[in-house]
Amino acid sequence: MSSLVIVGAQWGDEGKGKVVDLFAAHSDIVVRYQGGNNAGHTLVVANERTVVHLIPAGVLHPQTTCVIGNGVVIDPGVLCGEIDALQARGYLKKPEQLKIDERAHLILPVHRALDIAREERLGVDKIGTTGRGIGPTYENKVARSGLRVIDMLDPEYFRTRVARLLDERNVVLHELYGWPPVELDAVCDEYAVYAERLRPYVTDTALYLTEQIVAGRRVLFEGAHGTMLDIDHGTYPFVTSSNTVAGAVGTGAGVAPRYVNRVLGISKAYTTRVGGGPFPTELDDEVGRKLRQSGDEFGSTTGRPRRCGWFDAVVVRHAARLSGMAGLAITKLDVLSGIAKLRIAVAYEHAGTRYERVPAGVRTFEGARPVYEELDGWNDSLSEARRFEDLPAAARRYISRIEELTATPVTLISVGAERDETILLRDPFLL
Ligand code: IMP
Repeated sequence: MSSLVIVGAQWGDEGKGKVVDLFAAHSDIVVRYQGGNNAGHTLVVANERTVVHLIPAGVLHPQTTCVIGNGVVIDPGVLCGEIDALQARGYLKKPEQLKIDERAHLILPVHRALDIAREERLGVDKIGTTGRGIGPTYENKVARSGLRVIDMLDPEYFRTRVARLLDERNVVLHELYGWPPVELDAVCDEYAVYAERLRPYVTDTALYLTEQIVAGRRVLFEGAHGTMLDIDHGTYPFVTSSNTVAGAVGTGAGVAPRYVNRVLGISKAYTTRVGGGPFPTELDDEVGRKLRQSGDEFGSTTGRPRRCGWFDAVVVRHAARLSGMAGLAITKLDVLSGIAKLRIAVAYEHAGTRYERVPAGVRTFEGARPVYEELDGWNDSLSEARRFEDLPAAARRYISRIEELTATPVTLISVGAERDETILLRDPFLL
């Protein structure tokens, strides 16, 4: 029996897509268990870029079954579009390759409208959401007024529930934000088409997954976003609306903790963040701009330029502890080539207090000054390195220091976007 959870150790965009795609080759099933199409994984195979937002990054491997678990919020229009695009490129030929949980909640047009309207009203205080309706959908889920995939398959029931939801949400949308109300008929007509398109894929994936794990299949759980965007453990309120830590597999995929046995964290060799909120090691200088340019740091969902900064060991240590990471994959080490001196934040200082951990208060975190350690950089290009020994001594030292500061062994290093631009130090399923 073997399962592996892949979790982002920073603010998302750590390069999970590439790592999931790599390990999907050795997995029978790849599962999304939280978030929605606010996530985006860029996969590069033979110079061809594929971006997926909802379908697990294992989809490029025809032998791998992809599961969208109950904890995901699904925009069915986006999902249908993704299925079409993948099928047009020769992927996802058989319906058995994709399974969608019947209990997953649906993003409705009113959720997208509310997300954007609310952000507009917040102005400079906005969270910087992706505008995909994620937060409002989870709100309705918790308020017990949301719509689920299974409801969409029963048009009569769907209509009654959407009418009830719109009764309330349209008031906020129209009266508070001044947006036109969403029409019930339009939603029902549109979603009836999605229902028939998606029906062949809908099933009880929690049951399926547990049976498969017990039968000895290798299951990879693909986390979206990053630990610092977790609704409980992230930089609240500048977070997403789901739990992103490994524990979310239990609820978001319906798989009991006893079947979740390994966690691999993914972190960039530096730090990035999109959207608002604290980011102590952010660089608004030449180095920051170099990281953005060399690392192609633009959001794969919204295209927004990402904020860039030094590696923050406090953040990654926080993430490693919360998810019980047995190993770390360090991505984009190649992007650091050519920077003479590198810095790593080892603690913060705020109002005379030293913090070795992430402060809970957003104002404390915003005002926190990083305590840096400086390390030598390297000039050599790393893209040809395939073994740890191929790396320059300064790069090896940088990796070792990350291991010490996060108390987590580095098990994989990525030195480029292609599958083979990878140094694998240990099989993640054997962590
Ligand atoms: P939401 O998830 O669209 O509600 O956005 C909430 C916050 O999470 C914003 O700061 C987003 O930029 C951020 N966010 C959501 N998904 C991702 C992601 O996949 N990568 C990076 N940031 C994300």
